[in-house]
Amino acid sequence: PRAPRINPSILAADFVNMQADLARIATADFAHVDVMDNHFVPNLTFGPQMVERIQATSPIPLDVHLMITEPERWAPEYAEIGAASVTFHLEAASDPVALARRLRDIGSRAGIAVKPATPVDSLFEILDEFDQILVMTVEPGFGGQSFMPETMPKLEALAAEARRRGSRVWLQVDGGISDRTIEIAAAAGADTFVAGSAVYGADDVEAAVTRLRDLARA
Ligand code: DX5
Ligand code: ZN
Repeated sequence: PRAPRINPSILAADFVNMQADLARIATADFAHVDVMDNHFVPNLTFGPQMVERIQATSPIPLDVHLMITEPERWAPEYAEIGAASVTFHLEAASDPVALARRLRDIGSRAGIAVKPATPVDSLFEILDEFDQILVMTVEPGFGGQSFMPETMPKLEALAAEARRRGSRVWLQVDGGISDRTIEIAAAAGADTFVAGSAVYGADDVEAAVTRLRDLARA
């Protein structure tokens, strides 16, 4: 089986001690970077200038999650900065396949995300256009919310479809992932786990990453 990936979300980091908080997640797989525009979601974080500095500072590759309208206008810039992975929302994209191809051409992994209420069936035919599919397990916009188990059938369907097609696409979950919920998502087929409060809220951040990885593997 594939080793589970743990991607701490720096939304839960201390924004004015970002360098130190990035250093604390050096043993994790990717630093998850939540870009919010106050249009696609009712919250605002940071843009390319900040992400460029995070890219220059992070000990691990970046997993950028764009919660923005008009991803066509912004997503390529994050790939050009050097983000290893750039994920945009299906609900916001006018031509998801074209955008994914652009991101791959620039050299980043291409990801597509769906909100809890968005069906995933339309992705089955185009699975191979993406390197990862993010099934949101909370309504996007804020950290610290409760995991929504009703999103698990979508993950199961994607995992079954990926198996059937021999696809190597990564299946990511984001929102409310903790010691108490990560096994549920892993059992449903997730292999890549975003965790904000569960990592940065822990006394020992490195131990929290290791524990989550072990639970996801079990
Ligand atoms: C929410 C963001 C998440 C958030 C997760 O819209 O996409 O990445 O940081 O935070 P937790 O793990 O605290 O639910
Ligand atoms: Zn996120």
